[in-house]
Amino acid sequence: MITVVGYDGSPLPAPASERLARARLVVGGARHLAAVRVPPGARTVVMGGVGAALDEIDKEVDKASGDVVVLASGDPGFFGIVRALRERGHEPHVLPALSSVAQAFARAGLPWDDALVVSAHGRDLRRAVNACRAHPKVAVLTAPGAGPAELGRALFPQHPRTFVVCEDLGGPSERVVRCRPAEATTRPWRDPNVVLVLDSGRSVGERGWIAGARPGPSSWALPEEAFEHRNSVVTKAEVRAFALARLGPRIGDMVWDIGAGSGSVAIECARFGAAAVAVERDPESCDRIRANVRAHGVRVAVSRGEAPAILDHLPDPDAVFVGGGGPEVVRACAARALRSVVVALASVERVRPTLDALTAEGLTAQAVQLQASRLSPLPGDVHRLAATNPVFVVWGDRDAAPPPAPRPEPARRPQTLAELPEADH
Ligand SMILES: C[S@@+](CC[C@H](N)C(=O)[O-])C[C@H]1O[C@@H](n2cnc3c(N)ncnc32)[C@H](O)[C@@H]1O
Repeated sequence: MITVVGYDGSPLPAPASERLARARLVVGGARHLAAVRVPPGARTVVMGGVGAALDEIDKEVDKASGDVVVLASGDPGFFGIVRALRERGHEPHVLPALSSVAQAFARAGLPWDDALVVSAHGRDLRRAVNACRAHPKVAVLTAPGAGPAELGRALFPQHPRTFVVCEDLGGPSERVVRCRPAEATTRPWRDPNVVLVLDSGRSVGERGWIAGARPGPSSWALPEEAFEHRNSVVTKAEVRAFALARLGPRIGDMVWDIGAGSGSVAIECARFGAAAVAVERDPESCDRIRANVRAHGVRVAVSRGEAPAILDHLPDPDAVFVGGGGPEVVRACAARALRSVVVALASVERVRPTLDALTAEGLTAQAVQLQASRLSPLPGDVHRLAATNPVFVVWGDRDAAPPPAPRPEPARRPQTLAELPEADH
């Protein structure tokens, strides 16, 4: 029998202490092993790498020599060891404690059903940072090298946020510090810690029905009238619909809108939860973008300047929309884009050089001409077709990652479908 015992700094409750007292093998981080009473005669394994610890657990279970207890922080079913045990075919008994995230929001005195929780533990910090750029209330599970200082560096100065850094929650060195991203870069921090990244005016949030991010927008490819624009310089709704489909903006992404004009593409990407930057050289248009951003209640960074030079100062994008700029700009965007680049063009002569710029940077390029005719009323209750200008959309994708390897069959304890927790009955 494997029991996973969550630890949050409080004395272990009776069921957990009883399991521990019977254990033959106790596995856990050094600070967890030091905090509990390991029974005499039990072997201990200090969890460094998860793989090596799981191998020890497998061996013990094979020997069937007695109970195994795994000590883990907070709720081990939440970004914790329970998944790894399940993947090895074990069916652990789980006795959770309070998650560090619940403790952190409690220390801040904030509700958190509307908070995003992201993990930079053993993962790239980039997605966590993009989530913090786009969302007003994020809890970041950190790791050494991906903690408050690194978050602060990534968010300062464009993103005014308050950090609540919660160190060693429930432990002997617990400390809760409120600071700005800039301060976070200059202070030493103790592990483990959770960082709450809050957009001050919006940290209480609205009452909702779903935990985490709000559901996506109920409609997109909004009409041109939804954006203030100059002389109809706004990507038409039909073209925007197709561009958004190719960009695929989502939480954790960074999207650039180059030659943003009214900012309509950047704003729609932000409505999907992506972090977005609108790049525009014309100061008046920048003001207009800011007004549109405010009107839509989203966060979009506006970067005034000329591509490609200005791109050096921007964080790497997952996807880029180029509404203005020649092949040189397209190529510079393609060199940086991690997933896709979408270019809208009016002139046929630009199509070939744009395709070439995308393929030169290793993207697989395609193109389509889009032309919509909208129904327009005429006197006498009849309609005519009002043609919008044809637009070429050229796009390039980095080759999709190979599909993930199939999960190894849980070799140890075969389960019937009905026993699987995910089974749909
Ligand atoms: C692998 S995750 C485990 C999360 C855990 N299952 C939970 O519910 O809290 C590890 C991260 O949790 C956070 N963490 C765990 N225990 C903590 C504590 N006592 N104080 C602050 N942060 C903690 C840190 O961000 C740490 O890097």
